[in-house]
Amino acid sequence: MRHLSFLTALLSVATLTRADEPIFLNSKEYDNGDFGPYPIQHFKATGHRAPRVNLVRQSDRCDHDLYTFFSPRGFANNARLAQSTILDQNGHLVWTTSWGENQQMYNLQVQEYKGNKYLTFWAGNDAVGGHGAGKYYMLDQSYKKFKEIDAVNGLKGDLHEFTITEQGTAIITAYKVVDVDLSSLGKTTGPIWECLFQEIDIETGDLVFEWRASEHIAVANTYRHIGGEGNPHGAAFDYRYLHSVTYIDGRTGDVIWVLGGKKNMFDDLSDGRATSFGFQHDARWANNYTEMTIFDNSDDGGFSDKSHPRGVRVKIDQEAMTAELVQEYKNPTRLAAASQGSMRDLPNGNVLLGFGNAPLFTEFSHDGEVLCETHFGPANKFGSGEAQSYRVLKFAWQGFPTSDPAVAIKQDDADEWRVYVSWNGATEIVQWVLQGADKAEGQEEQWQMLEAVAKDGFETSFLVKPGHPAWLRALAMDGSGNVLGMTATLISTSLRPRSLEPEWSWPLE
Ligand SMILES: *[C@@H]1O[C@H](CO)[C@@H](O)[C@H](O)[C@H]1NC(C)=O
Repeated sequence: MRHLSFLTALLSVATLTRADEPIFLNSKEYDNGDFGPYPIQHFKATGHRAPRVNLVRQSDRCDHDLYTFFSPRGFANNARLAQSTILDQNGHLVWTTSWGENQQMYNLQVQEYKGNKYLTFWAGNDAVGGHGAGKYYMLDQSYKKFKEIDAVNGLKGDLHEFTITEQGTAIITAYKVVDVDLSSLGKTTGPIWECLFQEIDIETGDLVFEWRASEHIAVANTYRHIGGEGNPHGAAFDYRYLHSVTYIDGRTGDVIWVLGGKKNMFDDLSDGRATSFGFQHDARWANNYTEMTIFDNSDDGGFSDKSHPRGVRVKIDQEAMTAELVQEYKNPTRLAAASQGSMRDLPNGNVLLGFGNAPLFTEFSHDGEVLCETHFGPANKFGSGEAQSYRVLKFAWQGFPTSDPAVAIKQDDADEWRVYVSWNGATEIVQWVLQGADKAEGQEEQWQMLEAVAKDGFETSFLVKPGHPAWLRALAMDGSGNVLGMTATLISTSLRPRSLEPEWSWPLE
């Protein structure tokens, strides 16, 4: 890497260089829907789009060392296909991508495999009876595809889970229509959606273990009415609605215990509040396997009286078989989480909830105080599904894209020509440097520094000034003055950039 140690002295602070649209700060207009059901912006250098968020509550006590990972999608016109998205702590874009043709993306996370960090997600068709038919992907820290993982035994990977274990295997979910005895529900033999999970060796793609719900969980344990489903050759009955967490031996497949639901095995020391969750998501062990955190949707409808989505922290005593509510996490704004959702403990002890079908995420202190709340769709549309994200998670992350930084020359709102630069996924840029050169016939160009500005937001702009040389380019610099990347060169003499859009025109003739 080349070293430019004299940069800091040249850092200019006076000009407005952030090209991102302003972030909304507790905007009532935003929450009233004045900017539409899913406000987005497009960036000039890359054409990428990003959600424009409304920071409704902010606090120094939120975990600002982490980035936010989610995949907004929904019924709003500009959200029909998900964009997996990383935002920084101020709501600015860090990285975004779509995937394949007409594919949805779910469950963007950072996971570790053999000591390295990867971006992981599911992509595919999410319109298969509330399940997904797709694959799982791992991208390395340069955003290159490292693995593509399929479900085994002829099944398609479902969107709900993709967890990498310390053993280097992946736990994934899958669904399959099978015929079972439905006499306990007043029917004959008929089709159900069988829920499976598979443990897959990531290196080889081989199946390590498979578990089928119908072999261990009776269909009569569901709370869902079978209605017209489950008739021979008819629609498959989806019996997932058990309102319970089942702990399973990963070698034998035996059920170890059930928390909540019709087969609850725990004494609830909190008058039912530790076991009364319903339509829940994202059950995880916490606090060294002594607690479970669960996103309790509580209801799958709209704003019914039953609807009180919350995160719950339940203390599990596996010897005494007792369950005790340690803490509830409730959003102060009344809302329904009709589907999806996530709850995770963060490294500093805070707790992050994503409300699934409703476009917001909220960070709480460990003991339940609301600290930060971010909307990525207006509050008056919560429940409409126009913008949603299966999960919203936070992780530490460093990204080093191998593409070149993007550059474009465009006129701003004041008709001034600006050089716009950004670099999708590059987390370590501290400064952008504009360089210029005049090139005489047959000579090497001599690059000189024109301006250096602190990176602030996703896209940075430089005003093109009358005295600037004919050739321009920008360098992305890290905090130690190393050049991380360099844009294509814009050449004014030929009126053509080396690699930009064809209708580009040079302002300084
Ligand atoms: C987790 O619990 C186990 C078993 O009680 C204990 O041996 C271990 O030290 C605990 N780990 C931490 C990090 O507290």
